[in-house]
Amino acid sequence: MANSEGGKLWGGRFVGDVDPIMEKFNASIAYDQRMWDADIRGSKAYVRALERAELVSAEEMEQILQGLDQISGEWSSGAFVVKPGDEDIHTANERRLKELVGAPAGKLHTGRSRNDQVVTDMRLWLRDAISTLTDDALQLISTMVERAAIEIDVLFPGYTHMQRAQPIRWSHWILSHAVALSRDVEALQEIKRRVDVLPLGSGAMAGTPFDIDRELLRRELNFSDISLNSMDATGQRDFVAEFLFWASLCSTHLSKMAEDLILYSTKEFSFIALSDAYSTGSSLMPQKKNADSLELIRSKAGRVFGRCAGFMMTLKGLPSTYNKDLQEDKEAMFDCYDTVHAVLQVAAGVMSTLKINQSAMEAALSPDMLATDLAYYLVRKGVPFREAHSLSGKAVFTAESRNVALNQLTSEDLSTISPLFGPDVSSLWDYRSSVEQYAAPGGTAKSSVANQVQHLRKWLQQRGR
Ligand code: ARG
Repeated sequence: MANSEGGKLWGGRFVGDVDPIMEKFNASIAYDQRMWDADIRGSKAYVRALERAELVSAEEMEQILQGLDQISGEWSSGAFVVKPGDEDIHTANERRLKELVGAPAGKLHTGRSRNDQVVTDMRLWLRDAISTLTDDALQLISTMVERAAIEIDVLFPGYTHMQRAQPIRWSHWILSHAVALSRDVEALQEIKRRVDVLPLGSGAMAGTPFDIDRELLRRELNFSDISLNSMDATGQRDFVAEFLFWASLCSTHLSKMAEDLILYSTKEFSFIALSDAYSTGSSLMPQKKNADSLELIRSKAGRVFGRCAGFMMTLKGLPSTYNKDLQEDKEAMFDCYDTVHAVLQVAAGVMSTLKINQSAMEAALSPDMLATDLAYYLVRKGVPFREAHSLSGKAVFTAESRNVALNQLTSEDLSTISPLFGPDVSSLWDYRSSVEQYAAPGGTAKSSVANQVQHLRKWLQQRGR
């Protein structure tokens, strides 16, 4: 009897028991219980709307509200006991409410379906999750910006194709990643607007036939809008898909930053050293200090995008409105949240504790990285850039074939390449002045990097940092 009528909220038309394997397969309580608070908040608002519609009396409403508060207390103290028949958080809370307040509990679901309930709970939950992730990301960005401000005078090689390209400021590198993260924060706020829409009052799919004041529900639950169409409201998970994509892109940004840092932390580069708090040793090789924190950050992007791609496949081709396939939304959403929440915090820890090795960074600069400057020297003397590029290339070739550094070429060597090379070429072989040329907004000159710092500080301030 336990699994047929009486044991199930939907048991009325069923006579036989559910196969226990099916019961387990069908249940989402193992993971959706983390929405217990959202579920209770939703029910408290809903019973108020029921009372307004005279579907429950004021007294019944009070009983239900008190019961819900007690259930809330049980969840937060860890005393709530999930029972075998509890399919999901919605049925578990309702089952408990019935145990606590008896008959009135049976009125709470009037006009409501788990279809509008579950998606309301998810939106409430995700709204809070987005606030936490925003804080995490702002914390990380602020750590990076302050580090960039302090270490603004440190130069090191900038790479393209992982080949030495041009000298840059280390802070320019830091801020390049901070800027990507600031876009993530802005994108997340955009998504939040679309999460912030109330579906409750949509029923199973057709809406509600009762006098449920959806505006009251909106206010009670502090949503900025109510959904326009009940079929769309119960059957769409665009807000989840958007969040999963957001998490994929944000973790992709962090994976790229992690990859650079892993490289910089190798003995061959020795630009940075991770703090022991974010590294581990090898069980076999005593000398090893591994950048596990960064490797895990790098790896999580794959996991998160896997969740996103997997859920998109679930959505593709679904028929209208609620189908049980949609139950897959929750594990994807929770897992991406947990992962990005952890990744952002670990990244902040890594970024605030790593040590840089300024002399190794600057020693890695080499005169060949100034070949562009050699071309610009000629450009400043009126040579078209294409030609200047080729002349500077010849200088690089000559130096390489003689196995000397570019700045070791004599003024004679250079003047055979172009008579426009004068003795003042020698002033080019200075990394600091090379970097200072890039003073246009967005460049790596000190003034420009300082502007970036100022801009991001202000941006952070506008977001309460
Ligand atoms: N546990 C279900 C889910 O997560 C709740 C909605 C169930 N609705 C239904 N019609 N069976 O999606």
